Amino acid sequence: MLIKRIRDWDLPESAATPEHIGLNRRAAIATMGAATLGFGSIGAARAATPMEVKIEDPGYSKAAMRFDPGRPLTPQKNAERYNNFYEFGLSKDIWQAAQKLPVEPWTIRIDGLVEKPFTISFDDLMKKVKVETRIYRHRCVEAWAITVPWEGFPASELVKLAKPLSSAKYLRYTTLADHKAMPGLSIPFFPWPYHEGMTMAEANNELAFIGTGMYHQPMPKQDGAPIRVVLPWKYGFKSAKSIVRIEFVKDQPETFWEKTSPDMYGFWANVNPKYPTLRWSQARERLIGTDKTVPTVIYNGYEKWVGSLYAGMKQDKTLFM
Ligand code: MTE
Repeated sequence: MLIKRIRDWDLPESAATPEHIGLNRRAAIATMGAATLGFGSIGAARAATPMEVKIEDPGYSKAAMRFDPGRPLTPQKNAERYNNFYEFGLSKDIWQAAQKLPVEPWTIRIDGLVEKPFTISFDDLMKKVKVETRIYRHRCVEAWAITVPWEGFPASELVKLAKPLSSAKYLRYTTLADHKAMPGLSIPFFPWPYHEGMTMAEANNELAFIGTGMYHQPMPKQDGAPIRVVLPWKYGFKSAKSIVRIEFVKDQPETFWEKTSPDMYGFWANVNPKYPTLRWSQARERLIGTDKTVPTVIYNGYEKWVGSLYAGMKQDKTLFM
């Protein structure tokens, strides 16, 4: 199947190089240190193949195209070798280091405001859900983007299994912190373990997804094996990898990046090209695996599905940082 460029969020592409990427940030990192910045090095794209992959694989069925991303898939190798996984270090080149991630056995604790807290093994969880493919854009706050065929199941399925009480308004999800395997945990200024949150309404939105694989394969360790969150309308840092606990809570949970850099990153983190960070523009994004940059679109192109979630809210910077 071929991705057609006819969707309402489709983007005119331009080869212009955005000067905001890398330079400001690198200079800032050099002068201020990563502690005050939050995100680490941006760096140039790793030896990228300047080629696009069209989605011609018949395995990407019609169902997978429900949310047609309007752009070609990122070549698998590029998507899987350009990562943010600070537990393994601040560089993008952690895919080999991440092979130390211990994934078996893997359990997930579901607790907080639920009928009955429980711990479930990854294998048992997989018996309770129906895995499907979703092709989504993923837009990092650092202004790079990939387009990935994920395997997984809707986050709403997980909510159903958890049986939250009516007092539960948010999900707080926490990821693995294994000091033996993860050298990044010794970076002192980060509030480990990595933890993030979303509202119940967001979790029940049909776009919210729990990823267990990509490119028809189990989730690579560097991408958050065996199970991660995928929220394509938000900056990538909301999509926490290697989840071990999901807690249902009443109040908006404080998140890893809010604690690290409250002036830069917030709870909502919905993509919006109009709101730059303190240090760089969010107007464009660099497509990993190509030499292209393209304009960024509000809600990363998914407004049609998620815009109503925020309709009653103040449409200001806090919704988009
Ligand atoms: N999850 C954990 N546990 N640790 C991280 O450092 N980084 C986040 C997110 N989830 C991160 C994480 C950021 S900033 C991004 S952009 C995405 O993971 C990157 O996902 P990818 O490397 O699979 O493309």
